[in-house]
Amino acid sequence: MKRLAGLVICGGLLCVNGAWAAAAPSLKSGQELFASDKLGTSGKSCDSCHPGGKGLNISAVLSDDDLADTINGCIAGPLKGKPLAPESADMKSLLLYLKSLAGAYK
Ligand code: HEC
Repeated sequence: MKRLAGLVICGGLLCVNGAWAAAAPSLKSGQELFASDKLGTSGKSCDSCHPGGKGLNISAVLSDDDLADTINGCIAGPLKGKPLAPESADMKSLLLYLKSLAGAYK
């Protein structure tokens, strides 16, 4: 049932929160989430304040748990959204994306 509901909600082309994304965390969906305004209600995306992930090389030193907390801080704060469950596919995708940036701006 949960999967069915996800499919109905996620009928559009850009499906970041639905059952499909939940099935497969990926770097690509992390990148899409980072640039999407759907994580919050403020009309901003992570990319609005961290263009291209610049300055987020802290990802290299934090554990996944701590990085997830930090990400949720930005979701609950500036984005005015709902924190993501640490084990959710969306959070795992964001972690993959941020880790991929870790070495880029040292
Ligand atoms: C309205 C602006 C804003 C938005 C939107 C925003 N952030 Fe942030 N973020 C900040 C500020 C300000 C800080 C703390 C100062 C800093 O370290 O750059 C921060 C810090 C961080 C850090 C820690 C960086 C460090 O060096 O301590 C991470 C990781 C991060 N944000 C990720 C995200 C992610 C992922 C999103 C989207 C879900 C997001 N942010 C959305 C403003 C924002």
